[in-house]
Order: sequence, then C-alpha cells, then structure tokens
Amino acid sequence: MKKNVIISLFVLILIFPYEGFSQEPQFLWDYQFDVPYVPTPYEVVNEMLKMANVGKNDVLYDLGCGDGRIVITAVKETGCRGVGIDIDPLRIEESENNAAKAGVMDRVEFSQQDLFEADFSKATVVTLYLLQTVNLELRPKILCVLKPGTRVVSHDFSMKEWKADKFTEVKLERRTHSVYFWIVPANVSGTWKWTSPTGSEKDQYTLDLEQQFQKIKGTLYVNGSGLSIERGELVGDKLQFTVGRTLEGQSVRMLFSGKVKGNSIQGSLKTEADTAMKTSKWKAKRDPSTVNPIEGSDKLH
Ligand SMILES: C[S@@+](CC[C@H](N)C(=O)[O-])C[C@H]1O[C@@H](n2cnc3c(N)ncnc32)[C@H](O)[C@@H]1O
Repeated sequence: MKKNVIISLFVLILIFPYEGFSQEPQFLWDYQFDVPYVPTPYEVVNEMLKMANVGKNDVLYDLGCGDGRIVITAVKETGCRGVGIDIDPLRIEESENNAAKAGVMDRVEFSQQDLFEADFSKATVVTLYLLQTVNLELRPKILCVLKPGTRVVSHDFSMKEWKADKFTEVKLERRTHSVYFWIVPANVSGTWKWTSPTGSEKDQYTLDLEQQFQKIKGTLYVNGSGLSIERGELVGDKLQFTVGRTLEGQSVRMLFSGKVKGNSIQGSLKTEADTAMKTSKWKAKRDPSTVNPIEGSDKLH
C-alpha cells in the first residue's frame, strides 16, 4: 500500500518518535507495507525475551521480523528455535545474512510472507513490533490459532481491550519504550456439567462461565442452587475458582482447579470445612453449542 509522503512522515513522527529520524532517514519514505521498518533497540529485545521467559524448548515467531534481530538474539541467548516472517524480501535477505553471521542458521527460518496469511500456529512465543491497528487486526487470529498458554510480547503497541498480563517500560536515551505481555487464554465460556466431584455424594454440578479474554465470571449450580464463583482465574489452559456454600450448617469453601482441553476440564477440588479438608477429582464436559467468542459480548470486571 503506497502512502503519500506527507502522511507517512506524520504517522512516523507520531508512532516512532525520534527513531525514524535518528537511525535511517529512508524509513520515512519507505512505508509501502502495513508497517514501516523500524528495528527494536537491543535493550528492548532483551526485555521482550526476558518477559516471555523464552527457553530452549520454545518456538519463537517474530511477525514482521525486519533484520531478524529478535529471532537471532532469542536463538543465540536461549537455544530455542526461531521463525521470522516479513513481507519485504530485502528484510528476509538481511535476516538470513545476519543469522549466517551469528552462526544460527540451523535453528532459524526466515520466510517472505504476509503475516496475515502466515501459519504461525506452531509458535510457543510470538513477538510483535507492528502498529496498534495491525495488532488489533491480528488479535482474533492470535486468539483463535495459537495454543492456550502461548506467550505474546509486543513492543510499544497494546491489544486494547485484551489487557496485558504484564507490562513494563524500557527507558532509553531518546525515549521510553513499552513492552506488553499476554498469555493466550483457552476459551472456557459456556456450560459445563459434571456429577459428584466429591465421590460419595450424588451432586449434580453445572458451571456457567462468561469470558472476556483472560477474565472470567460465572455461577456454579449445585443441585440447582446457584453460587457465584469467586477469585476466578484463567492462565492459558489453567482454570481455577472458589465457591462458598453451607452444608449441614457448616460453611464450606470449595477450591476448584483444572486443566482445560477443548470441551473437557479435569482437575482437583479442595473442600475446606471448619473441621476438615478433603481433596478429590472433578471432570467436566461442556456442551459445544454454549461456547461464545473469547472476546466476550459484555465487559467483565
Ligand atoms: C517495525 S518493523 C519491526 C522489525 C522487527 N520485528 C523488530 O522489532 O526489530 C515492522 C516490520 O514488519 C514488516 N511488515 C509490514 N507489513 C507486513 C506484513 N503485512 N506482513 C509481514 N511483514 C510485514 C516490515 O517490512 C518491517 O520489517
């Protein structure tokens, strides 16, 4: 997409303060794709990799990889595998040359592709330095295609309503850079059912969950009577929540934790009463027709 020079200049001044001017003036005129080429300073690259806790078993994808610096640094520092995707053939050539110089060609792959068409479903870590609009356009694909638990780090641009799980800033001489971090949540929305998690009882459980990104709220029905879930937490495919109920005059807290896999959850339940604590297992199934989009329809808080 060719933009006119004045608009490009204006946009670049707004979104990449100082960087474009100070490093390579040709960036200003070279805005022919969805995002101009501006490299992430190495101090910020290091913070991004630290925040995502990249390790040797990871497969890191940089969408819009520029000169390959994030992929190459990750591979060199952690021994992970890395894939860089960029639409500009010049950047891919640069990345390959840089990877060869760094001696990491056996663990990296660079591919000239449009990031909106690329398959990055094998990633365990995704890094981004794009634009706000591009992040938002990419957000549904990130949430739909990536495995729950995949870590996503973005330099300077947020995901708006999908609030970051962690955020930090890197202060450099010219300006302060923002780093956003998310863990892709499983979709746990809908109605889950199971029987007698405590084993001996014949209780019927129905859990109605609403979700907006990683935030959840809902109600647990035990034999038809509803209890609001408290301290609901979803991290990747790990769900936990608590409910309080009164059983035979005694107040009881039930702490559910479980791992979500498609339409099933398996996990453990700690039941705490005044006098005793008991652990048991629970296994729930979801009616697939009750699943909602992960973005949620209402704002949860
Ligand atoms: C701001 S630079 C970031 C480079 C690198 N990730 C870094 O942080 O140093 C954005 C990169 O995205 C690339 N790009 C722009 N639109 C793209 C698209 N549709 N598909 C893939 N890459 C794209 C540009 O060529 C550019 O290299």
